[in-house]
Amino acid sequence: MKTVEIRERFLNFFKDHQHDIQSSAPIVNKDDPTLMFINAGMNQFKDIFLGNQEPKFTRVANSQKCLRVSGKHNDLEEVGVDTYHHTLFEMLGNWSFGDYYKEEAITMAWDFITKDLGIAKDCLYVTYFEGDKDDNLGPDDETKSIWSKFVAPENILKGNKKDNFWEMGDVGPCGPCTELHVDIRPDAEKQAKPGRDLVNMDHPQVVEIWNLVFIAFNRFTDGSLKVLPRQHVDTGMGLERLAMVLQGKTSTYDTDIFAALIAHLENKSHKKYTGGDSKLDIAFRVISDHIRAVSFAIADGQLPSNTGAGYVIRRILRRAVRYGYSFLEMQDAFLFGMVPTLANEMGSYFPELKAQEKFIVKVIKEEESAFFRTLSSGLGKLENYTAEAGEKVLSGEKAFELYDTFGFPFDLTQLILKEKSWTTSEDDFKACMQQQKDRSKAAAKQEMDDWVIVVDSANETEFVGYDQLSTQSKILRYRKVSAKKKTFFQVVLDKTPFYPEGGGQVGDVGVLQSKEESFKVTGTKKENQLILHILEVLPADLNADFTAVVDKNNREASQKNHSATHLLHLALREVLGTHVEQRGSLVNADYLRFDFSHFEKVSKEELEKVEARVNDLIQENIPLNEYRSIPKAEAEAMGAMALFGEKYGDAVRAIKFGPSIELCGGTHVQSTGVIGLVKIVSEASVAAGVRRIEMLSGKSALDWVSNKVGTLDKLEEILGSKKDPVADLEKLVQQKSELQKKVEAFEQAEITSLIKELKGKAEELSNGIRLIRYSGALEAPALKTIAFGLKSEENCAVVLGGKGASKAFLQVALNESLVGRLNAKELIKQTAPFIQGGGGGQDFLASAGGKNPDGISKALDKAKELIESI
Ligand code: SER
Repeated sequence: MKTVEIRERFLNFFKDHQHDIQSSAPIVNKDDPTLMFINAGMNQFKDIFLGNQEPKFTRVANSQKCLRVSGKHNDLEEVGVDTYHHTLFEMLGNWSFGDYYKEEAITMAWDFITKDLGIAKDCLYVTYFEGDKDDNLGPDDETKSIWSKFVAPENILKGNKKDNFWEMGDVGPCGPCTELHVDIRPDAEKQAKPGRDLVNMDHPQVVEIWNLVFIAFNRFTDGSLKVLPRQHVDTGMGLERLAMVLQGKTSTYDTDIFAALIAHLENKSHKKYTGGDSKLDIAFRVISDHIRAVSFAIADGQLPSNTGAGYVIRRILRRAVRYGYSFLEMQDAFLFGMVPTLANEMGSYFPELKAQEKFIVKVIKEEESAFFRTLSSGLGKLENYTAEAGEKVLSGEKAFELYDTFGFPFDLTQLILKEKSWTTSEDDFKACMQQQKDRSKAAAKQEMDDWVIVVDSANETEFVGYDQLSTQSKILRYRKVSAKKKTFFQVVLDKTPFYPEGGGQVGDVGVLQSKEESFKVTGTKKENQLILHILEVLPADLNADFTAVVDKNNREASQKNHSATHLLHLALREVLGTHVEQRGSLVNADYLRFDFSHFEKVSKEELEKVEARVNDLIQENIPLNEYRSIPKAEAEAMGAMALFGEKYGDAVRAIKFGPSIELCGGTHVQSTGVIGLVKIVSEASVAAGVRRIEMLSGKSALDWVSNKVGTLDKLEEILGSKKDPVADLEKLVQQKSELQKKVEAFEQAEITSLIKELKGKAEELSNGIRLIRYSGALEAPALKTIAFGLKSEENCAVVLGGKGASKAFLQVALNESLVGRLNAKELIKQTAPFIQGGGGGQDFLASAGGKNPDGISKALDKAKELIESI
């Protein structure tokens, strides 16, 4: 059974059991600070479990892309080493939100696995929660007795908190779980050792395939559990593992999911994957796993970068490159070549891969090529270290430096060292790594207290901000957040006009007022479904009646920029082509920033066209058509473009200004004329295949223009020219350069004649040295030229002074015959204080600059005295 069919069977089974089938959420997580990437199917339902959001359906199923590479669930280091872990995997899941519970969840799972898929009952083991003293929880006997109806008692095992109590993170929804494990070992092995002894023992062929969680609690920051008002079911089954079982394989990498990727790699590397545990086999697994994680992340909008989620993706990509380089002898970028194979394999269920194939290829190619270059500089560095004679031990600090600046994982360094009979200390390396982790943890620390409930309500905040800028409100709950240096509060209201940061638009600011008091709202953002108002001070009376008022000027400036962003997107597609797609945007009250896919610099002419087109659309004063809630299909039929990496429900909001139509949750002007004017102020590259335009609109654009006009007025005034200041200025510049040339020629002639004159004026000192002294209104370069012209004079010391308005220069030059007896640097050192300055140079030629022209003659006298004294 091909993977495509397995996925389909699962979804159909649950559809037949009245589940709503939903699409996968993007893996890049934007709305939850506790989570970088989606790591479980249930993430997007967190608020429903906690009672913060009413579910639209009480039964849901999907296949969710998950990435377990950071935080509580992190499998990265295992991936490739064993044969059944992955960074990116698909999780088949079914959910009940306060609907069915243990009995039905278990029965449906058993029916699907044994009847629908026909997996033999006797190779299945199930586990249940044994209870936990610390949490004051008893054993889950209910689950055990439900299983007893289907499963032989010896195949029902109890498990501890680690395996049988599932938690999303350190805080949040959680509950006891029951897991299905399958034993796929050959019969002889099964007879020698029963599968029940191998469950949860990291055996590659006795593996967990399905986890059914009974979400019943909320875990708080102090570690305590609170029973949730309703009980829910959250199940997750690894599609790759299920495919392994159904396809009769002993490794997920031997299933059809990975076959094409591995074949591609065999072809390119001229090496053979044998499925074993050699470094070569591990490399095959690492690479074919990681290319999926990296490609999906890019398709969902997360480009590799230096920080946060982008850095995680960069590290995964580098891990793949490094394995290819070390064990498959890949010398050049190769990962990008796997993307078309991947898009071919998975593109039918995940259209984002196909639609963005070219872009993903481009990003990966640039990123890995850059890493190959770093790799070779790192190798050069290592080469230098090991060229030193001595103990043949590289310090752990140096190994860490290679890791940190060149991306060399420890085992690569170790491997290269081994080839040269060198060693290094893993303990020291780990200590350095730990220190760095501690440093960054301390820097990023943000501690959140638990929510304090003021009014208990499962209703979502009513958002009225599309139509109103102020409203009556009550506080529902608040939470204290302590960041590095400050403490603030996040407050949830029952009703709010405050737009929470999203879709690139910054959150509103404003005030929360009661009869007695007024509090500044310094920002608004969204966390899952909650709208969080940021307050620095908490109202004394939390139960008061408040008026929530948005800062109108700020909001209006932001929405002008937001509407202008839509018009810019349209104009770019018209002028540059439909390959242009939004990659990111920032809209605030001051300006807008728009990132889009395009492979070369946008020319000046193209930018002018784009800007003119947007200004035309503004002039047309096109009214806003807002479709607040229409079926997604209908919006798409009107021409709305869905952005990959965004999660849309079935009903969407569409914003239309004439030919521009986008799915968007932001706030907008009522008609384009309100924007007034736009002005593109910069265009640059931000990443491979991504360009960035910065643009001003409304008052900022007008200010920009009037500033420019002001400059122009001033120029006209200075030039005394109104008719054609540009031509006049060009003429002036031309004249200036001609004059400069003339002045230089005069100066040269003067210097030449001065040199000649000074040659005849050398003083004969008592010690036989000839001294040429001179001072005049000369700058440093002229003094140097003169000094050079004179220093060939036999037995001659040259001391020159130059005067400017409040500047003074000294220059000393010595004939070759005097070097050794005298030192130009020393002379400068002793005379520079007279001109309140300092300088230096070489033994035969030195100079100084200072700010006291009146001291020049004293400096020259001092020089004479010093020279004569030897
Ligand atoms: N949340 C559980 C898991 O990730 C079941 O979906 O294993």
